[in-house]
Amino acid sequence: MTLVRIVFVASCLLSTGAVYSQDSRPAKIDARAEFQPCTTCHGRPDPELSSDQLWIDRVSETTCVQPLGKKSAPLRGALRAYLLGKDDVPKRESTVRDAAAGEGQIALSEPENLSVLLTPIASDGKSATPIRLVWKAEDGKAARTLPAGRYRVQHYAITRRDTQGTEWQLWGSGAKGRTIVVAAAEEPTRLNFNPGVRLASTAMWTDVGLQVGLAPTGDGGMGVTIMRAGKRIKTKYRLLGTEGVTAKGPMSYG
Ligand code: HEC
Repeated sequence: MTLVRIVFVASCLLSTGAVYSQDSRPAKIDARAEFQPCTTCHGRPDPELSSDQLWIDRVSETTCVQPLGKKSAPLRGALRAYLLGKDDVPKRESTVRDAAAGEGQIALSEPENLSVLLTPIASDGKSATPIRLVWKAEDGKAARTLPAGRYRVQHYAITRRDTQGTEWQLWGSGAKGRTIVVAAAEEPTRLNFNPGVRLASTAMWTDVGLQVGLAPTGDGGMGVTIMRAGKRIKTKYRLLGTEGVTAKGPMSYG
């Protein structure tokens, strides 16, 4: 009898506790809705790709999410949990297969560890389903198969190792991705991806001192992030004047 009473009292206490904590809990974050505006530049990452896992990790620090610091920690946490889940992940093509009716192919010009997210440019204005093509360098220039049509590159990730075995990644996102046309029942479209990065720098003296801007861009002028051994690298600047280096230092971009 006593045991039953203790259990009853304990369960009452627990349920009361639960009610209180529910009341004081902040409103639940709808991470899917919060990520929606991000998709104009990024598209949905694929948590099964190691480059995208690293990208999702960066959600806890990126300046793309505001504000910085503790205030946005719950939002960043909710975004990461959603992105690590399976919902809304675009279809992935990572093997060789024959093209069916209405499908075409894209092949690489050079072997590369590459993932490219393509968004169809829909002529009827309907929301179009993106598709992700993935290559490993050892696949050579193998073709990937997808529905024929016009696409825009929405995100890409290139992974390489240097002679010391250090892994480098280059990510590109934004609205400036190139357009790719895939025709049905023809030779594969060759994708000649530009792995280079350009640094467009601006420097000017203002009332408050020297203002230096640096905008790294990649294929087609897309905005890029460079990762080295899992860390985002900071670009360094050196400004040369008539008396040699007049200003130099580390700089972060983004
Ligand atoms: C106007 C375009 C744009 C929008 C909108 C945008 N981003 Fe970005 N973001 C970029 C570009 C360009 C880069 C650099 C390329 C890359 O890393 O993919 C970047 C980089 C990132 C990175 C990786 C590098 C870093 O900064 O650490 C993450 C993570 C990221 N954004 C998350 C988000 C999230 C989450 C949102 C929505 C809250 C968002 N972005 C909205 C353009 C945008």
